[in-house]
Amino acid sequence: MNPVVELWLSRLRRDNLAKKASQSPLLGKKMEILVVGSGGREDALVWNLGQSPLVSKIYCGPGNGGICSRPKTECLSIKADDIFGLADFAQENRIDLTIVGPEAPLVAGISDLFEKRGLKIFGPKKKAAQLEGSKIFAKNFMKKYGIPTADFENFSKPEKAKEYALKNLPIVIKADGLAGGKGVVVCFNRDDVLKAIERLMLKKEFGVSGNRVVVEKFLEGEEATFMILTDGEKFITLLPTQDHKAVFDGDKGENTGGMGAYAPAPIIDAQIKKEVQEKIVKPCLAGLKKERIIYKGCLYFGLMLTKTGPRVLEFNCRFGDPESQPLMMLLESDIVPILKEIAEGKLLTKEIRWRNGAAVCVIMAAGGYPGKYEIGKEIKGLEEAEKMKDVVVFSAGIRKENGILKTAGGRVLGVTARGRGLKEAIALAYQAVAKIHFEGEHHRTDIGKKALEKF
Ligand code: AMP
Ligand code: GLY
Repeated sequence: MNPVVELWLSRLRRDNLAKKASQSPLLGKKMEILVVGSGGREDALVWNLGQSPLVSKIYCGPGNGGICSRPKTECLSIKADDIFGLADFAQENRIDLTIVGPEAPLVAGISDLFEKRGLKIFGPKKKAAQLEGSKIFAKNFMKKYGIPTADFENFSKPEKAKEYALKNLPIVIKADGLAGGKGVVVCFNRDDVLKAIERLMLKKEFGVSGNRVVVEKFLEGEEATFMILTDGEKFITLLPTQDHKAVFDGDKGENTGGMGAYAPAPIIDAQIKKEVQEKIVKPCLAGLKKERIIYKGCLYFGLMLTKTGPRVLEFNCRFGDPESQPLMMLLESDIVPILKEIAEGKLLTKEIRWRNGAAVCVIMAAGGYPGKYEIGKEIKGLEEAEKMKDVVVFSAGIRKENGILKTAGGRVLGVTARGRGLKEAIALAYQAVAKIHFEGEHHRTDIGKKALEKF
């Protein structure tokens, strides 16, 4: 080749490489990230983000007594619902990316506020977050776009809701607005209906969230969680997971925020995954687009796998808790570029790499939870459990007082273990659980068992 052309070509190659390299986040300034929230899900995110070579610093608002000890991490005294305080902090400290854990700030419009101020944020805007913020919005949306869900009616008058519910037993009554996962009552008889209407609509246990209710047909089947990360157009799926909502073994007792989870959930096999993507995820994204809603963030589909196919029980506009805990332990890809791409409105990553094997999270809860519970109990044995290989204890309701770890919430810890298979992960998680103690502690002893029995 002509030496002049050769020189020119080599310069071009070098310049192109240099240009590419300068665009690579690996060589750019390392990122400072703000995580919003204070639970086990946020600890799992912080733990994972801390391992990314792209991240130099993580702030967590407000975080908890365990999160503040994670590498690179500092907790802030700004609460998750103080969206203006968080935006001021992100602006003043030139935060590169904010990741929102819980639903309340999203429903309150944290992403709208951040974007208005030119701040990058992972999480849907207020309009999109209505998928979780209003069950009536979600159900009407599903009906409009043919997304399979239970038949339903919406009511604002208690008398009418009661009449319809009694005619259609068994039935499920759901407060329209946010209720911390506790605004849904499954009713098998007349008494259940009367109590549910009384609690939600008359006594207003969840305030204005109970002004209106959805009354929907009871569905039979097994529940599973399917989450996607999306920029509103493209999406990538997370591993299917399964939460355990009831407080006691065998899915008995009251519903909680979740007593444990595992991943991957084999009940969502390749065929069901395809069906969920075709019949639920794609129509949902297409519907949102038609409504001129750009959904950027994690979209959570709470599914009931019925004999006639998967049905959507609920949408959440954020990562699941405790589903995120096993997922964060199984992630092999660096999640930071993916979340950044979505925050920038352009998802380029095509898939996420996961480690082989399975992970299980067992929630250790305060005595009395999900009802009334005491806090301030000293937690012992946590360090010993954390020393175990392939075990991470994620903290939820914890605070540190003079260096001593104490309980500060209902769901206290998410003891999470990774194994070559589900059986190994379960055994390891429970070995770790056995090392940790606090007064009144209770946990389920059958997390993941359903999958072991069937597969
Ligand atoms: P949701 O917040 O709407 O997912 O409801 C909370 C829990 O109530 C679910 O995880 C299910 O266990 C139960 N549930 C909700 N809707 C139904 C339904 N239509 N049929 C049976 N169980 C339901
Ligand atoms: N695990 C249920 C939820 O995140 O709402």
